[in-house]
This record gives sequence, C-alpha cells and structure tokens, in this order.
Amino acid sequence: MRVGVLSGGGDCPGLNAVIRAIVRTGAAEYGYEFTGFRDGWRGPLEGDTMPLDVQAVRGILPRGGTILGSSRTNPLGEEAAAGGRSGLERIRDNLANFGVDALVVIGGEDTLGVAARLHGEGLKVIGVPKTIDNDLSATDYTFGFDTAVNIAMEAIDRLHTTAESHHRALIVEVMGRSAGWIALHAGMAGGANVILIPEQPFDIEQVCAWVQHRFQTRYAPIVVVAEGAHPKEGSEELLTQERDAFGHVRYGGVGQMLASEIERRTGKEARATVLGHVQRGGTPTAFDRVLATRFGIHAIRAVADGAFGSMVALRGTEIVRVPIAAATSELKLVPRERYAEAELFFG
Ligand code: F6P
Repeated sequence: MRVGVLSGGGDCPGLNAVIRAIVRTGAAEYGYEFTGFRDGWRGPLEGDTMPLDVQAVRGILPRGGTILGSSRTNPLGEEAAAGGRSGLERIRDNLANFGVDALVVIGGEDTLGVAARLHGEGLKVIGVPKTIDNDLSATDYTFGFDTAVNIAMEAIDRLHTTAESHHRALIVEVMGRSAGWIALHAGMAGGANVILIPEQPFDIEQVCAWVQHRFQTRYAPIVVVAEGAHPKEGSEELLTQERDAFGHVRYGGVGQMLASEIERRTGKEARATVLGHVQRGGTPTAFDRVLATRFGIHAIRAVADGAFGSMVALRGTEIVRVPIAAATSELKLVPRERYAEAELFFG
C-alpha cells in the first residue's frame, strides 16, 4: 500500500511530528510506503511530490513548520482549469499516476472540508485536525494551539514589565479569526486586564473604563485582543477587502484601532503589539509533540482499518475517530460561560 500525505492551510507547530509518526508507524507496523505531496492541495492537484520515507523524517520531531510545505490552494475552486478537467479529476488522476492508494490529509476547517468532499467522491481519505486556532469541532484540542498560547503568554509576561515602567496601556493582538481561544487562554495565563474575542463584540467605553481602573490601582493595563474581535457597532471599517482562496477575510488592525481609541478616550499612552505569525513558528511544546505524534499513529491505523472518511480526534485523553464532515460542519467557538470566567479578572 502507498499512502500520500499532505499538510494544508496555515502551518502550525507539530505538523512535522504528525508526519514523522505516520511514516514511522506505517513503515514499521504495516510495511507501507509513502508519497509526500507538496504545499497542501497544490501537490496532488499539480502532481508535485517529494520522497517520504523513514530517512526523510529523521530529526524533524522538534522542528516547526512542515517539511511538506503548505498552501491555501482550494482545488474545488479550480473547476475549469487545465483543459477543462476539474480539480477533483486532476487529483484523482495524479493519485492514480503515483500509485497512491490512500491519502492522509492534515489540515484545518478548509483543508479538511475539501477532504470530506473528496471522500464523498470516492477517494480514500483520512483527516488529521490541525490549527493553532483550536476551533475545530469534534476534537477537544488541535496540536499547535498549546504552542501558540505559550508564545503569546510569554509575550504578555514581557509586556507587563515594560508597560509598568512607562505607565502605558499595551494592546496585544493575537491570532483568531472567528474563535478567541488563543486570546482567552493566553490572556488568562498572562493576567490580562481585558480580553476581547470575536464571539463577544466589545463596548469601547467599557474597555476604556477597565483600562482607567487598572491605572488607578497603579498597574499598567494589558489588553489582549483576537484579530477577529470587533466592537458592538462599526465593525465594517476593521475589515480589509482581501480574502484568501477559501473566501476568508484577512484581518489585521484591531489592535492599532484599540490603541488609538484608548489613547484618545483616556489620555493615557497606548501602544499595540501584533504577534502575527510568530505564534505559528518555531518548536512545538511537549503537549503538542505528544498530541501530534498520537494523531499520526492513529491516522495510519485508521488507514490500515480502512476507516476512510474519518478524522482522528482527541476526546478527553483518548484518540477517537469521527466523520471528517463532523469536524468541518461548524466551528468550535468560545462558550459564553468560558468567557465569563475570564471576565472575573477584567479591570
Ligand atoms: O488558521 C490559522 C491562522 O493562523 C489564523 O489564526 C489566521 O487568521 C490565519 O491563519 C492567517 O493566515 P495567513 O498566514 O494565510 O495570513
């Protein structure tokens, strides 16, 4: 059996650990051979491959990024390309040409959404959930999230000391397009004064009141804001017009907007720090390495069992199989009661 492997969407720490576990387990337990597809769905779409054997995965466990490369290529948006053949047909032909019997797809909502569609068309696909945003339903955690939270927490810790020296309000913008998990966890762990998430539109007056209160108690406020957070009114001007291949808006700017508003309304100096892709880079935490390794082991076991159309997921401490479609049908958002716990520490 020859198994194809691809990683799509935004990269995240732990991808290499999954790839290593798939190849090592598949080779040792089942004698499988592997083909690596480069840059997400672009690989099988264009027939761009790389060798993937035990030698190729040596030493990659602690490395960030993905040796396979990644992209946000949407093959289902390529219907009329290449001589009138649809993206699906091109992928089907390329898999057959390379002798690939089954495909392990490591990705988030978009990449796995394509995997679910392709499984519906008869392709043998197994999904592995990946995103620093931790917003996939059907799994308690995705790998990469813990690393991103720790990077953001360390940044918040550092910002506390400089904010207090200069009596400034510091705004930290973290990733999180639709879900505020990174902001919630990093903000709670870092003792943020205010945490703003996409799920709970904010009142700028209230934010300024919390900031003022923190200055009155002789501490400098740290405001953690998810990139997709928006005020109760007037959110439109925060959106750029840029969209990716899956139609998602590219956010950016809420941190700077908050800094200007806080400065204007409170008279205190306020500065924004945008953590951006720093949250996605570098070596994964121990938690993410272990979760990613377990996902890889269980993904190749799912291939061996012929459980196509399923995705591995973490439930409590167990790795289970769920339909890929269950993971992509709706996003896992921060529930109101989880945000309420963080709110106890605002102001
Ligand atoms: O989905 C993961 C993520 O890091 C989001 O948090 C963020 O909005 C997006 O990817 C950024 O994507 P890109 O790296 O393509 O700009």
